[in-house]
Amino acid sequence: MVGIDPTTNQLPVKVMSWVEEIKQLCSPANVYWCDGSREEYDMLCGELVEAGVFTPLNPSLRPNSYLCRSDPGDVARVEQRTFICSPQQEQAGPTNNWVDPNEMKDKLGNLFAGSMAGRTLYVIPFSMGPLGSELKQIGIQITDSPYAVVSMHIMARVGREVLDVLGDNDFIQCLHSVGYPLAPGQEDVAWPCDIDNRYIAHFPQDRSVWSYGSGYGGNALLGKKCVALRIASSMGSDEGWLAEHMLLVGIESPAGQKTYMAGAFPSACGKTNLAMLVPPEGFDGWKVWTVGDDIAWIKPDQDGKLRAINPEFGYFGVAPGTSEKSNPTAMRTMEKNTIFTNVALTDEGDVWWEGMTDEAPEHLIDWQGQDWQPECGRLAAHPNARFTSPASQWTSTDPAWDQPEGVPLDALLFGGRMSSTMPLVFQGLDWDHGVYLAATIGSEATAASDDQEAIRRDPMAMLPFCGYNMGDYWNHWFSMADKASNLPQVFRVNWFRKGSDGKFLWPGFGQNMRVLKWIAERTQNQVEAIESPIGYVPNYEDLSWEGLDFSMDNFATLMNIDATEWTAECESQQRYFQQFGDKAPQKMEAQRERTLERISQV
Ligand code: GTP
Ligand code: SPV
Ligand code: MN
Repeated sequence: MVGIDPTTNQLPVKVMSWVEEIKQLCSPANVYWCDGSREEYDMLCGELVEAGVFTPLNPSLRPNSYLCRSDPGDVARVEQRTFICSPQQEQAGPTNNWVDPNEMKDKLGNLFAGSMAGRTLYVIPFSMGPLGSELKQIGIQITDSPYAVVSMHIMARVGREVLDVLGDNDFIQCLHSVGYPLAPGQEDVAWPCDIDNRYIAHFPQDRSVWSYGSGYGGNALLGKKCVALRIASSMGSDEGWLAEHMLLVGIESPAGQKTYMAGAFPSACGKTNLAMLVPPEGFDGWKVWTVGDDIAWIKPDQDGKLRAINPEFGYFGVAPGTSEKSNPTAMRTMEKNTIFTNVALTDEGDVWWEGMTDEAPEHLIDWQGQDWQPECGRLAAHPNARFTSPASQWTSTDPAWDQPEGVPLDALLFGGRMSSTMPLVFQGLDWDHGVYLAATIGSEATAASDDQEAIRRDPMAMLPFCGYNMGDYWNHWFSMADKASNLPQVFRVNWFRKGSDGKFLWPGFGQNMRVLKWIAERTQNQVEAIESPIGYVPNYEDLSWEGLDFSMDNFATLMNIDATEWTAECESQQRYFQQFGDKAPQKMEAQRERTLERISQV
């Protein structure tokens, strides 16, 4: 027997009554309480196979793994449909969509009414963070998507023990429906959704999330972006901690010294790659240990250090571009027990995506279920195709990755995709300067955007994930200096600078180890740096060049600080800050002005 029987188990009253309320609202055919067991996971995957939603992959090539194809219109997070519903619009701030919470609840109440007809309502008790950790948060997700249930099994700690730990305490209410009720006798579709009515609504004051109409990724696995970033950032602001869009790694030197770093990079800018980095030739004895690849919760400890946990339990990584060359650790991780979404299927019953091998197979079934040949002109996998794998399967998993007290942070890294202006690496002069460096990261706008500015500012890589006013969020960052006496050093990195020939100046990927080593040594006071107008920069000789032919001239080009470009950058920052009105911290503008002044003196 799988599932928790609410009639024979004593379950928390608050959870019981909320489930009853939602059952009345959504009118499901059945209610199922998830116990989080392996048997339950296998049973639901079996049902998904039976229903034609999952394709089991060849068990000798990809044991216990499945392919799933979404509706072609429901393939990623939808920022235009994501809302922060705090009582005042100013609490959400200019970077978030806002609707009055009562208005949103009315609107969604109508949509959720009867939305689960003909379906099973699943109750998923989940914990973000180890159950024994003071940093954890418990949520209950109600969903009518079995795909969301099995994905949550991988991405969060799910099941009966969560309810035991929760007891009569409050929890984060997470309501999700794909918005596709079934009339009696109506046949289901493989990927039910309601594309034209998608709402990813957050109520930070109630600590609740209502998500309607989408089954994909961050829209549907509510523990991830909705709880662990949007709701958690708001809790962190009230309670003195930070919820960040960051990877977490421990860099171990040959002497056995470990330096923990967290790194914020906008979506699809290389967090997973950096989190699983394999040191290149010339780095014998160095090792990169993975703690997390997407989210970090950070809190000051008694010694004045910031400590971080990865609240997740698995990885939801971008598949295209992942290969033996770019990320062998990820390739090992997804060898078994993995759910693949929107990748291509090979004739042998395995998966394939652009960039996995130099040459594409001669025939595939593409992500939309159609025959595919290399010359057909279509992509075989969707660019946001993803793999969902348990963290325990990562060969680089840090032994401390799930310890309840987290890991102590020595460095914070921030970076985006910048083809000009931004050097490979530079270090903040102090905490306030570091916060300014973090708030001003951005990534080049793609051709698809008609944004006036050349870059999309993405402060702390949190633009789509900050659950409250970005100006208040920046103040919260500054205020960490009052809460922790031994703060991490802040670094900016940029793997994406290009030369006049339009090619990347820096080889990136495993070679980023050279930068991580310098950063680790800086935090241990083992190496000097030069003070430049934008922060501390490395001497060429202080980076290890063994195994890479990279001249001093190339390095000078990569590290060049161009006064004209930086003046334009500072002016663009000013325009960006202005939209926050008096919510923009005075300290931020002061840092910008000082930078401009230092630049003008070169
Ligand atoms: P989310 O899961 O969406 O939050 O993103 P992520 O930050 O984990 O992104 P991911 O690691 O999947 O980003 C992959 C993209 O970054 C691919 O296009 C890679 O080719 C590119 N990338 C990663 N590291 C490097 C690097 O060092 N240099 C260059 N040039 N590209 C890189
Ligand atoms: C991101 O977009 O930053 C992701 C993927 O990590 S999703 O979980 O879908 O938001
Ligand atoms: Mn992410």
